[in-house]
Order: sequence, then C-alpha cells, then structure tokens
Amino acid sequence: MIELRTEEEIEILRENNLLVSRTLAEVGKHIKPGVKTKELDRIAEDYIRSHGAVPAFLGYEGYPATLCVSVNEQVVHGIPGDYELKEGDIVSVDCGTFMKGFCGDSAYTFGVGEVAEEVSRLMAVTKEALFKGAEQAIAGNRVGDIGYAVQTHAEKHGYSVVRELVGHGIGRKMHMSPEVPNYGARGRGPLLKKGMVICIEPMINMGTRHVVWGRDGWTVSARDGKPSAHYEFAVAVGAGKPDILTTFDYIEAELNQTSN
Ligand code: MF3
Ligand code: CO
Repeated sequence: MIELRTEEEIEILRENNLLVSRTLAEVGKHIKPGVKTKELDRIAEDYIRSHGAVPAFLGYEGYPATLCVSVNEQVVHGIPGDYELKEGDIVSVDCGTFMKGFCGDSAYTFGVGEVAEEVSRLMAVTKEALFKGAEQAIAGNRVGDIGYAVQTHAEKHGYSVVRELVGHGIGRKMHMSPEVPNYGARGRGPLLKKGMVICIEPMINMGTRHVVWGRDGWTVSARDGKPSAHYEFAVAVGAGKPDILTTFDYIEAELNQTSN
C-alpha cells in the first residue's frame, strides 16, 4: 500500500527536507582536503540537533552515524571515520532528519578542490538524471517512467545505473512503499497519485554497474573501483507538476562563494 499525504503533512516533510538541505550546505562549507569524514558527521549531527530535529540514520538498523559519506568508488552508505579527504576526491554526503513525526532524506555529491574533468561530468550527469526523474513525478505516470528517465539520461552519457539500491517512499518512516528504481520501462510499475511522496536517488557509476559490500557490512562500492556519484531528494507527486521538497540552492550558493 502506498500512503497519500495531506497538504499539512507535505509541509512537515518539506520542513524536514529543507533542514537536510541546510545541513548539507553546512557540511559542504567544511569539505576540503585534510578534513576527516567523521568531522563532517559531527558538524551535521550538531546542526540537526540545534534545529530541533534528530538524525534519522543514527541507529537505523544499527547504522552508527548521522551521515553516510561515500568517497570516490564508494556508491553509498560509507561510514564516517578517520579518512582524510584529498584534492580531487568526490564525496557523496547523504543525510536524514526526523522532526514532528516525519522524515527528511537527501544526498549531494561534492568535489574536493579541483576534480578531474571526466569525474565532474559524472557528477553533473547524475544530478541531471535526478531532475529528469523528478519531472516524471506527476499523477497518472508510473514509477517506471521515473526510472526510465534516469536510466536513459545516464546511459546516454556512457554511465551505468546501480540496480541493488533504489529510491523509496518517505513519510513517518524513512523507507516506505513504493521502491523507486533508477532503471525501468515507461508505463510500468505502481501508478503515481497526487500526495505520494518519494525519494529519487540515482547512483550512477562511471564503469561497471556492479557493486560489492564492504566488510563493515554497510559501505557499497563499485566493483571495478571507478568513481560513482549519488544525488537524492524528496518529491511530492503533483497533478501536472512535481513538488520538489528539497533544494540544492543552499549548497550551491556556498559552493559558488568558495570557488570565487
Ligand atoms: N538515504 C539512504 C537511503 O535511502 C539512507 C541511509 S541508510 C542508513 O538508503 F542506514 F544509513 F540510514
Ligand atoms: Co534515501
């Protein structure tokens, strides 16, 4: 069963997802060579708690941190630790909140200093694929229309789509029905209705789509060790147009300031 949210509930989901947006922007300010990924986790946890929410990932199925920080070939669910970011790395930062009975969940892939041209392109195409997917989040479409749009964009650029992990419904819990794969066929899958809220989260690899699980039981990496990018946001399905509940504007305003 896929739950439908009232307008009031969607506003609380928006509040959560905008807090995640601001948390990611705060984390983004501190992404530079020499910073340990666990330092980013501290910043995020403090920020979330000081804004009246709690980190949604911490303790989720035993997950030990506030953020998932996944560097280079790591696709998702990297556990923050002593790794020091270095010039040229790319780092997916995934963050969740819980406040007023609902969840927020979004991710953004940052470059550390100067990033190789071909890796920047992977990041750009992955983010574009997310927006292409989101454009399909309108009542009357099906979940497969979203996956088709994401997959087509990524593969057109020669990249591959991770299959083992998918997007999801979001509400009072972080992971709800339906599953939202980043691949699919037009017109297939569950029917989208106004009031459904889903997270779309393409995980796009430069090389093989196949992944391996790390010995920590969490970290998912590209099997061939090539870079992977990941962006995620929450979208409320609308009549005629999607309502994106997250924004990357705070993050990108910070990025533009620091690069000038
Ligand atoms: N954004 C992630 C997802 O949707 C959530 C991280 S899983 C957790 O899969 F265990 F770390 F919480
Ligand atoms: Co998610």
